Amino acid sequence: MSRLPKVQLLNNNRDEIVGSVEHNPLDVNTLQTTSRPLSTDDKYKMKFATKTIHAGIAPDPSTGAVMTPIYQTSTYAQAAPGDHQGYEYARTQNPTRHALEANLAALENGADGICFGSGLAAMDAILKLLNAGDEVVATNDLYGGSYRLITKIYERFGLKGHFVPMYDATQFEQYLTPNTKLIWIETPTNPMLNIVDIEAICKVAKARGILTAVDNTFASPYLQNPLDLGADLVVHSATKYLGGHSDTVLGAIMAKDAELAQRLHFIQNASGAVPGPMDCFLVLRGIKTLHLRVQRACENAEKIAHSLLGHPKINKVYYPGFTDHPGHELAKRQMRHFGAMVSFDLKEDTLESATKILTKTELFTLAESLGGVESLIGHPASMTHGSIPREERLKVGLTDSLIRLSVGVEDVDDLLADLKQAL
Ligand SMILES: Cc1ncc(COP(=O)(O)O)c(C=O)c1O
Repeated sequence: MSRLPKVQLLNNNRDEIVGSVEHNPLDVNTLQTTSRPLSTDDKYKMKFATKTIHAGIAPDPSTGAVMTPIYQTSTYAQAAPGDHQGYEYARTQNPTRHALEANLAALENGADGICFGSGLAAMDAILKLLNAGDEVVATNDLYGGSYRLITKIYERFGLKGHFVPMYDATQFEQYLTPNTKLIWIETPTNPMLNIVDIEAICKVAKARGILTAVDNTFASPYLQNPLDLGADLVVHSATKYLGGHSDTVLGAIMAKDAELAQRLHFIQNASGAVPGPMDCFLVLRGIKTLHLRVQRACENAEKIAHSLLGHPKINKVYYPGFTDHPGHELAKRQMRHFGAMVSFDLKEDTLESATKILTKTELFTLAESLGGVESLIGHPASMTHGSIPREERLKVGLTDSLIRLSVGVEDVDDLLADLKQAL
């Protein structure tokens, strides 16, 4: 494994990329692969648990520091104009961010990674690949903020969003038009935990030259790798499982194709939604235990989901690990475990009855977000999905009493006891 930094950095100016965005908007088939090697190590040969700790990471060349330093600088010294060590200005390049991008690219088996100030900033950059008049077809059961970004921001600039069921890849084709330029998949979906067949949808998209992006936040790269299933882009709110400790907000895109990644680097540099080096450091540190945390959280979630079944107050429990879940067999093929999210709604389907439970848990903290070591409980209708109109959310089963659990890595017996007393 190389011990030297492995960056072939792009120019701050990057005008050549502007050309490709303008003249070749979304024809991913004609994109050529360029070499922007993120790492000279053998990242593809390492097993996942080794990649989390080593991929893209090398001791700091100036001091030998084993942990990636936080390069808290906005600019870099130049010996003469243009004579520098590959770094000019920190919106464009930062070594801490670059180590994280290299690590994430390896975890998702991508050609390159690009980190952003948040998960939504990452999605925003992907939408900026499109032009007015283009259409986005997205899962109809998705994070409320993703829905809001398409409908409230990009529709004003001439994009059109369609939010459709994607559980049947052949049925789903009816929603595609010649203007469809992006398919946005979220799986497992938030908060209904439906499973979308990434491979089948990407096959349909590829045949029509449509770009595909998968929000892999709920699964994390430990459970699912959409690029291996045919997706062009994978997106993470690294705020969640990747960071894993609820102490930072960050987003990431990993691209299968280096040229497409360069277009996103250009958009990022032009628009400016970069993460700070401290946040990159925190996510790098979080990732080192990703496999351990997610494994334990999945095991806890499985026990919790089963314990909720048949409770007299509960109407339905949503968890892809149940054999009668419509996406169970697909989840078994597509994921390595069923995830650590569990949703359920109540027989008395009111906000008031949900609130009684939401305010009674002691270990499950009532809070937005997910994917941290600590267990959280949330009320999607009023919190994460408050921006989706009630009639829209009811169509997918997101009822007024739906409660979402992000199961953490505490002792499961304590978690079970907490839910029992709250219910
Ligand atoms: C599935 C999913 N995607 C994207 C996001 C947005 O990420 P961020 O909050 O980092 O902008 C979230 C946030 O909750 C999410 O749950």
